[in-house]
Amino acid sequence: MKVFVTGGAGYIGSVCVEELLNAGHDVTVFDNLTEGHRSAVDKRAVFVLARASDVETITAAVRHAKADAVVHFAANAQVGESMTNPGKYFRNNVCNGLNLLDAAVAAGVKKFVFSSTCATYGPPDRVPMTEDLPQRPINPYGESKLMFEKMLHWYRQIHGLEFVAFRYFNAAGASEKFGEHHRVETHLIPNILQVPLGRADHVEIFGTDYPTPDGTCIRDYIHIIDLAQAHILALPAGRQGFYNLGNGDGYSVRQVIHVCEKTVGRPIPTVEKPRRAGDPPKLVASAEKAAHELGWKPRYPKLEQIVAHAWRWHQAHPDGYPD
Ligand code: UFG
Repeated sequence: MKVFVTGGAGYIGSVCVEELLNAGHDVTVFDNLTEGHRSAVDKRAVFVLARASDVETITAAVRHAKADAVVHFAANAQVGESMTNPGKYFRNNVCNGLNLLDAAVAAGVKKFVFSSTCATYGPPDRVPMTEDLPQRPINPYGESKLMFEKMLHWYRQIHGLEFVAFRYFNAAGASEKFGEHHRVETHLIPNILQVPLGRADHVEIFGTDYPTPDGTCIRDYIHIIDLAQAHILALPAGRQGFYNLGNGDGYSVRQVIHVCEKTVGRPIPTVEKPRRAGDPPKLVASAEKAAHELGWKPRYPKLEQIVAHAWRWHQAHPDGYPD
């Protein structure tokens, strides 16, 4: 298929583009490079540097790509920033996304695949979390993604645009070529690995008084290649709906640090800090629906494999991408 990927220069997008190309699809990447990196775009893809804020530009780009499917990663994704600058999140994640949706309809696109998040649920009533749990986001980031999910529902109903929306849990790891380099890094695993890379002398633990066995937050980490594979499974006609993507295993912050220590073969000093605002104590996915309906089966479900691949990439790219 011809696949139009927004945000294909970002962390998750770059690996998804690589996997789409490996699977034989033709890929056009559309990215404004505010968060992404030009060198994170697979050389086999066509690259369009442009903004989604201009509806004519994006419609022309989707038409020019003759896209059968759009895979939409481009977004702002920092919970903390969304609490201080909500307008940025609603403008980019909702308004610019709406431009893309209209462009997809105008260009006759058959399938729309969307990066959503477990942040659309807010703190869950129970774990593992299934897709039917109530969605009560507690920050503008999660709200902006939920608003887009709702637009997808109506565009399906009214314009017949088939969609798959994936609610990611914690994306981590790397492929051999592409890995995690955010200009402002807030994520746990890359922050931990800064220590053995010699870029930091300790990692901070945000909150040690949560109602969890060791007092630190529990998350469900999923390998970036497994996330990417799910997007490929979403492309065939008839596949439609909302799906969680996670492994169903929860690891506490302390457990993640321990796995990193084993991987790098040396101790990683920690400093205990107060809780970070907006962090739910425990988020663990049930991805049964994706397994049953899409045939999704993670290739790298173990945290040890995820961390090993992240470490391999960071060692090869200690400064991240050059651009
Ligand atoms: N943490 C630390 N120290 C750090 C970084 C993180 O203790 O240096 C803790 C956090 O407080 C949290 C856990 O490690 O308890 C995981 O934090 P991340 O920032 O790696 O991931 P989040 O679970 O906060 O966020 C992820 C995605 C977001 C998304 C969110 C909910 O990265 O984009 O899940 O979907 F919004």
